[in-house]
Amino acid sequence: MNYEEKIRKIFEKREQPPLCYVHSYGCQQNVSDGEKITGILCGLGCGVTVSRDKADIIVLNTCAVRENAEVKVYGHIGELKHLKKENPGLIIIICGCMAEEEKTTAKLRQSYPFVDILFGTSAMRELPRLLYEVLTEGGFVSDTACRNGECFEGISPVRTDCYKAGVSIMYGCNNFCSYCIVPYVRGRERSREPENIIEEIKGLAEGGCKEIMLLGQNVNSYGKGTAAGIDFPELLQRINRIDGDFRIRFMSPHPKDAGRDFFNAVAECEKVCKSVHLPLQSGSDRILKEMNRGYTAERYMELVDYARSVMPGLSLTTDIIVGFPNEGEEDFRDTMEIMKRVRYDNIFSFIYSKRSGTRAAGMEDKTPEAEKSERMQRLLTLQRQLAEEGYKRFEGKIFRVLFDSEYNGFISGKSNEFIITLVKGERSLIGTMHDVRVTKTHNWAVEGEIVG
Ligand code: SAH
Ligand code: SF4
Ligand code: F3S
Repeated sequence: MNYEEKIRKIFEKREQPPLCYVHSYGCQQNVSDGEKITGILCGLGCGVTVSRDKADIIVLNTCAVRENAEVKVYGHIGELKHLKKENPGLIIIICGCMAEEEKTTAKLRQSYPFVDILFGTSAMRELPRLLYEVLTEGGFVSDTACRNGECFEGISPVRTDCYKAGVSIMYGCNNFCSYCIVPYVRGRERSREPENIIEEIKGLAEGGCKEIMLLGQNVNSYGKGTAAGIDFPELLQRINRIDGDFRIRFMSPHPKDAGRDFFNAVAECEKVCKSVHLPLQSGSDRILKEMNRGYTAERYMELVDYARSVMPGLSLTTDIIVGFPNEGEEDFRDTMEIMKRVRYDNIFSFIYSKRSGTRAAGMEDKTPEAEKSERMQRLLTLQRQLAEEGYKRFEGKIFRVLFDSEYNGFISGKSNEFIITLVKGERSLIGTMHDVRVTKTHNWAVEGEIVG
């Protein structure tokens, strides 16, 4: 018998199937991993619960990208101590990107000895073995070995939503941006074979899925090392040809790998949303070099100009890091300057967080934290102003919106342009796509009425 069968036998003997609670803290890739982990547990005979207190197995799927992400996870692990005391049979599992950091095992053993299992980002398939060891022998077990090349084929996810789905097309990252921990915790870049991706998306489209988000740390570097040898623009074209009423997004492309063929493919494929998240990080060439980003501010602007020349209505969003080691006022102004030139519809901005093991962690940094916070406030104020003006261009426009939630008496969704769109309506709208005429704009969302 393999571990799966052995565990199923153990669980079948219980009065009720054990319930698992899986919480993912990080990016969409991390959420997507969480869905696969839920899939593995369901395959072993578990049910799913959204209530941590009712769970027999708790999985915290962690993120290590910034220090505050880790602090949050440790806070939540601490809260599990009393649950374990009340229910000694409870199994607590920590996985995800933090599991790959060396310091995590020691910290868990020392301060959180009630954790049962720790496994790394490429050890998902080992979960049944680890669980079996805990169920039969108890104690703490871990597997954080790096399995380069693992693309998790054949693991069926249990997805949170049925109308929108994240589909990983590649894993890992080879870029080693100097501030970033991802290449250390996710391993080397590898891509799935296109047939497997297409099969998965066909199944989702046939099942009525309305939005496919292609996921990867650097999606437009897709294809290296695959047998099929196709690149990201070609993959987009192939996915675009799949039958069905669904739209395609992707997250995140890297500016250094974004050539004309990339933007041309986005422009040509009618199912691909005309919105691109193009992480800038900084507008200062000196800082971009220190960050090892592989482009200059001018090169970035050339990309933006080309993208808008082939897609005049294109919506752009970005990531910005404020307060990278020794970012000066001049450097920061360069970032503000690019923001004014691009006029993003949304930005995700972060104060630099030192990650041990990365190159930037060894750089001296004389900028006081208060100055970084003040810069962040200026950045956010500018973005609000730019979006206030920028969103006015949407007034009277028809947006195609996939509704996904309730918000303050509205039903909320995202348009093809990735703009939050609010309408008055029934909850039953959630999971459906409609045309909406924009009647009012804010600096973070628009309001409108369903038409047709
Ligand atoms: N692979 C993606 C994003 C990875 S992490 C990309 O390259 O775009 C998401 C964002 O977190 C990054 O774009 C960056 O803006 C931010 N980030 C990463 N490491 C960080 C750090 N050490 N401190 C602050 N922000 C960071
Ligand atoms: Fe991190 Fe850079 Fe890779 Fe993105 S491209 S995951 S920022 S190293
Ligand atoms: Fe976080 Fe890992 Fe994603 S560090 S951002 S969960 S790849």
